[in-house]
Amino acid sequence: PAMEAEALPVISGLGLKRDSPPSLPPPAPATTFSGRVSSSSSDDKGNSSPSSVEVSVVCSGKCKVHGVDNIGTVPAALMTYLALSELRDPRVDLVISAGTAGGFAARGAAIGDVFCATAFANHDRRIPLAKFDDYGTWRSDAHPAPRMAAALGLKSGPVSTGNSLDWHDLDMASMSSGGAAVKDMEASGVAWACSLHGVPLLALKSVTDIVDGGKPAEEEFLANLATASEALHVALRGALEFVAGKGVDE
Ligand code: ADE
Repeated sequence: PAMEAEALPVISGLGLKRDSPPSLPPPAPATTFSGRVSSSSSDDKGNSSPSSVEVSVVCSGKCKVHGVDNIGTVPAALMTYLALSELRDPRVDLVISAGTAGGFAARGAAIGDVFCATAFANHDRRIPLAKFDDYGTWRSDAHPAPRMAAALGLKSGPVSTGNSLDWHDLDMASMSSGGAAVKDMEASGVAWACSLHGVPLLALKSVTDIVDGGKPAEEEFLANLATASEALHVALRGALEFVAGKGVDE
């Protein structure tokens, strides 16, 4: 998550401990938390066995100039790249970009829904030059997780990323043509860093506001941040229990 407010229910709910010093070295502004999450998984014969997964939560820290959380694709890509370089014991098998998002009512989104990403794209990188147009949009697929989404009762769809909480007409044209279900400010940056490292990526995005609902995003975002962060915690716990003891392709 970019914001600590999004991460706090997850950190306390999973009993994770703040790393001191952070597991990503300065001058990176990260705050990091870690711990082990256990689950009891069952095989196809119904035999259950305990398994667990080592979890690191990386938040993008605070801006030292403005004192607020470091939101957006630049901190997200930097934290992901550093986490994948630095966290070597054990190596990272899977990244989950977890946070809040605006949801499209036209794609079935309601406040507090958690979406499992099927794909990523940028809606605010317009570069009308040969080949750079597709580079700007940088569409890519999420690691497929249809069984996890079904098991946890999550909605699924494409995530579209931009560096603004609001949007204008050209952003909306791009989001509509890509079939965006949710709109966030980090996933495409995380996806780019994961692609450099060749590490699979899932994204879980909890809806704080409705993009096509006619209300200002900032008002709905603040009103629903606590509810959406709690829903994110429940989905993340479910996702970690689902992946524990499984291979990435499962
Ligand atoms: N995070 C929460 N709501 C958002 C929105 N409307 N756009 C981008 N990121 C968000």
